[in-house]
Amino acid sequence: MSENIYLKNLEDFCNTVSPQVGVSLDPEFIGSLYKCALSKQREGGLLLWPENERQGATEQISFLLNIMREAKVTHVLETGTNMANFSYIVKSVFPTVKIDTFGMAYHSALCVEMVNDHFGTKDVTYHCGPSQTTLAKFIEDTPEADIQFAWVDGGHSHPVCKCDLTNCGKLNIPHICVDDFAGRGGHGDAIIKAVHEFLDENPEYSLANTTDNSIDQRQIAHLTSVK
Ligand SMILES: C[S@@+](CC[C@H](N)C(=O)[O-])C[C@H]1O[C@@H](n2cnc3c(N)ncnc32)[C@H](O)[C@@H]1O
Repeated sequence: MSENIYLKNLEDFCNTVSPQVGVSLDPEFIGSLYKCALSKQREGGLLLWPENERQGATEQISFLLNIMREAKVTHVLETGTNMANFSYIVKSVFPTVKIDTFGMAYHSALCVEMVNDHFGTKDVTYHCGPSQTTLAKFIEDTPEADIQFAWVDGGHSHPVCKCDLTNCGKLNIPHICVDDFAGRGGHGDAIIKAVHEFLDENPEYSLANTTDNSIDQRQIAHLTSVK
């Protein structure tokens, strides 16, 4: 999607999606996150959808927020920061929540800073580098971290996704949501394979539910250790 088309449609996108997910999305601020990412936005984002898949945004955002509400989140984790779209949505709904987000891009540091400034807090912490290393270090430094929810949406290869899931399991995170379960966009069966291996190796977790693939072509899988 070209920059002009995305920015031109953002107001309309927010006007459609905001009432459906119950979040007041600010097109101007989301546009500034997008511009900050320059040519890298093609890496994808929760607020970056082609015109004909707008319902996918609603399905994904509602799905994630419902799980986070039920989990009564105070601390969440994300792999794959990109334009900090996830942090922006989470902070819009849960103003006091802490977020640790793991990404690889320089622009992500700027986007996280913009989100912190936007909300006037320092609750979002950006960890820059491959999550295989940075998340492992985070676990070493804070093994007792009490995190209720993880959004696994970083490297979409099998080893990276599997490593992110395994590390979330080490932190005993009770709700883990993984994006691109449907294997669209050249990811093939990397994510689905990583998820099933993770479930086989961690029997305390099970696949609770997924977004409706007829609406959300990316598809989120929700794994939980909550009985
Ligand atoms: C699909 S985008 C993330 C979208 C974001 N989670 C959201 O909800 O808007 C994937 C991001 O993961 C990053 N990434 C890829 N491999 C990674 C790795 N090994 N560790 C950390 N981040 C990685 C990419 O640079 C890209 O910015």
